[in-house]
Amino acid sequence: MVYGPSSIHHIPSALKAGYSEMPTFIIFVFLMERKKEIVLSGIRPTGFLHLGNYYGALRNWARMQYEYDCYFFIADWHSLTTHADTRELKSNIRRLVSELVAGGLDPGCCVIYAQSDIPEIAELYLYLNMLAYRGELEKTATFKDKVRQQPENINAGLLTYPVLQAADILIHRAVKVPVGKDQEQHIEMTRNFAERFNFRYGNVFPLPAAFNYGGELLKILNLNGTGKMSKSENPMNTIYLNDDDAMITKKIMKAKTDQGPAEVNMQKPDYIQGLFTLLSLVGEPGTVEKFENDFNECHIRYGDMKKQLAEDMVRFVRPLREKAQNLQQSPALIDEILLEGAIKARKSAAATLLKVREAMGF
Ligand code: TRP
Repeated sequence: MVYGPSSIHHIPSALKAGYSEMPTFIIFVFLMERKKEIVLSGIRPTGFLHLGNYYGALRNWARMQYEYDCYFFIADWHSLTTHADTRELKSNIRRLVSELVAGGLDPGCCVIYAQSDIPEIAELYLYLNMLAYRGELEKTATFKDKVRQQPENINAGLLTYPVLQAADILIHRAVKVPVGKDQEQHIEMTRNFAERFNFRYGNVFPLPAAFNYGGELLKILNLNGTGKMSKSENPMNTIYLNDDDAMITKKIMKAKTDQGPAEVNMQKPDYIQGLFTLLSLVGEPGTVEKFENDFNECHIRYGDMKKQLAEDMVRFVRPLREKAQNLQQSPALIDEILLEGAIKARKSAAATLLKVREAMGF
């Protein structure tokens, strides 16, 4: 069995039918040209998906799956650096997978798996650890944040978090890594580890880069306008893909506003801009235009705008929520997605590890 989106099994059967007549050379060129760049990204199972995840990550992943060879995974080992309790891990992973699939990932078009199902990653992590230095790990921004947030649990896994992330990426020799700004330093470190490996043992790894579709990543503000929507914030300020209609409406109606603009065409405060951004994502273009004009002409009624936004948001979230909840009714189906993903991911990982061991002389 040959796995992977670039395998011969994915070539339309009309083409396959003519295969026997094609000279081998042409088949070879044909297959070479079909080889797509490898994309990888991951998410920790420490919270559930919210609009920030959807617009900041998932929507791009769902688009990339049709253009690249994509691996998307649940970083459950990484979650142990902050969440040692594993009792709910399995059910959290299942829920996350169902939300990723509801949000557009197609297990037929990309590889979806749990990190802990791929032991090859742990072996590569071990080798990369010898190429990572205490100084650079200690000065990583995310490590310094965590030291501040959890001074009682500064474990070695936290320090070497970027090394494990590098192993995640390099194990598939991925070159494009769709991540947000806060992860760019980790990708840069991954390039450094890969370069050190290549220099010392031989050229095994292409150098990966952070990726997004041109321009700035969409930043989804929380409903308080005080920062990005995030799982560590007050849940009332974040809209989750699992929120029911009443909850969505309640959250939006409680979102922060003010007395209205003090002068025409003034710049919007962050918390108002945040609502406009959401409306532009889920509402009709005409609606956005109307409220833009109302704002610029100083007669906007935020109550009306929030009512409209709530209505449009409910319409947007409902099908995602229902699809995810339906999937969750069949844990066996989710486990099957993860098993199939793990088989494909292990095949790719084993091929890399073979090259790694060969290069190192094991
Ligand atoms: N560190 C990432 C985050 O917190 C999750 C992650 C783990 C990841 N391994 C990765 C992202 C590899 C991209 C590539 O969001």
